Amino acid sequence: MREPCFTLDGEDVPFVPGDNLLQAARRAGHYIPHLCWHPDFHAHGSCRICTVKVNGRMAAACTVQASEGLAVENRNEELDAHRKTMLQMLFVEGNHFCPSCEKSGNCLLQATAYQMGMEGPHFEEFYPDRPVDASHPDILLDFNRCILCELCVRASREVDGKNIFAIAGHGIGTRLVVNSDSGKLGDTDMALADRAAGICPVGVILPKRRGFVIPIGERRYDQDSVAEPGRQEAS
Ligand code: SF4
Ligand code: FES
Repeated sequence: MREPCFTLDGEDVPFVPGDNLLQAARRAGHYIPHLCWHPDFHAHGSCRICTVKVNGRMAAACTVQASEGLAVENRNEELDAHRKTMLQMLFVEGNHFCPSCEKSGNCLLQATAYQMGMEGPHFEEFYPDRPVDASHPDILLDFNRCILCELCVRASREVDGKNIFAIAGHGIGTRLVVNSDSGKLGDTDMALADRAAGICPVGVILPKRRGFVIPIGERRYDQDSVAEPGRQEAS
């Protein structure tokens, strides 16, 4: 019997019941740009970089259940331009200085921006005043680069059972915080082996004393495009 399929840019994509569009597309080797989705976690639907057109209507691919006969548009000029604008907004909303960032070459935000052809921020930078937390003996937090994907929140709560991170505030004041009385990571029981310590797709949560161990030019997205199957999200 023929597997159920939807079409992605005109190609048949098979799916299993319960798949979202992004999951099924990725399994079939297609790239739908994304930031907050990760195969090990429930879809979060916050970054909207995975926005596609489903039967002509915009929707986040990670939040739409695959179903037979859907016609999905993914990579075209209009949708990639929309993604580029959202990426530019993310870049100006935080402080992202790629040439001096330890995550350069391993960063999903940087790699996705390259993939969408983003060459400059376009909008005026906010240059927000955000802290760096070096209080933990093994882990550094640089909040300047946070894109609020909540992967660390989800990983800490669902995998590590620790609930170390949370999102606080709203609107432009929305920010990642550490759940300790002092607000410092050093006053939590976070460990380098925790899933939350290795999940950040950008350069916020970094192990200390390992900076630039892998030289620039030899990193994950230096070698291959983020659009290659298997290279599409953080560890
Ligand atoms: Fe996402 Fe990293 Fe910010 Fe956590 S610290 S919300 S993983 S960008
Ligand atoms: Fe779908 Fe972020 S990857 S909304």
